[in-house]
Amino acid sequence: MQEVIVGRVEGATVPKLTIEVQACIEKELWPFYRQFGGKPYQPDILQKAAAEIEELCRILEGEGVTVCRPDVVDFSKDYKTPDFEVPSGMYAAMPRDILMVVGNEIIETPMAWRSRFFEYTAYRSLLKEYFKRGAKWTTPPKPQMGEQLYDNSFFKEEYNGKYITTEFEPCFDAADFMRAGKDLFVQRSHVTNMFGIQWMKRHLGDKYNIHVLSFDDKRPMHIDATFTMIGPGLIIANPDKPCHQLSMFEKAGWKIVEVPRSVVSDQPPWWMSSKWLSMNVLMLDPKRVLVSSIEIPTQKMFEKLGIECIKVDMSYANALGGGFHCYTTDVRRRGTLESYF
Ligand code: ARG
Repeated sequence: MQEVIVGRVEGATVPKLTIEVQACIEKELWPFYRQFGGKPYQPDILQKAAAEIEELCRILEGEGVTVCRPDVVDFSKDYKTPDFEVPSGMYAAMPRDILMVVGNEIIETPMAWRSRFFEYTAYRSLLKEYFKRGAKWTTPPKPQMGEQLYDNSFFKEEYNGKYITTEFEPCFDAADFMRAGKDLFVQRSHVTNMFGIQWMKRHLGDKYNIHVLSFDDKRPMHIDATFTMIGPGLIIANPDKPCHQLSMFEKAGWKIVEVPRSVVSDQPPWWMSSKWLSMNVLMLDPKRVLVSSIEIPTQKMFEKLGIECIKVDMSYANALGGGFHCYTTDVRRRGTLESYF
């Protein structure tokens, strides 16, 4: 990896518990959102998380990677469009959710949470800079996020295999995609609809293949704590969320390794994700991985695979809903464009 964007927690605000947030978050956490939605996260948590992310940046730079950061934005301001209004935004902590790099193109994805509508503003300085350096800069049609994008009947029965987003207009988060050379894998999730996937298919054209994957998952949102690409032909998989298309990878000779369970405690509480952020790792190259310093079983798994672990503490950063992979978007990597399927 040669260049990476690392998100920031400064200015992070708890989103309002709108229905699309409810669909993605465990019920036990809803009271936290009811109490703090629209307000900044606790300053001491943010300070500790920011210090961890600074350390992550230092480690990346020490490994010879160029690190770029988004602008500091105050996400606590309310906003209103003709179609919806919310008391605040959220954060620019997870570039993985909003930015997708495909070849020399960088795509600002049309995300589905209303609290994330203006998140792109934090990345505009960087995107203008990349454009000047020769990148192709794309913004797919932004969803209007009126009532028609969301399925109100979703909550009538518990886990009905439905999604909170309808097919009214395209939406997708970059983190529902993962890429191996000319092949992209994507899951239909609460924040990525088939219309969005179709948009990407047509946009990327024949040069790339998009494969739709599905998993046993009650709250699909972002593939990178479910099925994580480690290198050519190697994937780590979440044992609680089996993939329904495993045979496709097996036929292509790929190795799928189940990850051990996380060993993190409940302090600080993780408000936005499951404990599976333990598998939300970042590969520096096929032989080196950034992994949480407390996740010893996961480290052992990597060592067995012949991969060196670079250990970083992310306890507070994780509390905001992301691990190494979420907090980063790799902009440039060495290598050639391969086709694996
Ligand atoms: N939905 C995942 C979980 O709860 C978290 C994924 C986070 N990924 C991200 N790119 N923000 O396990």
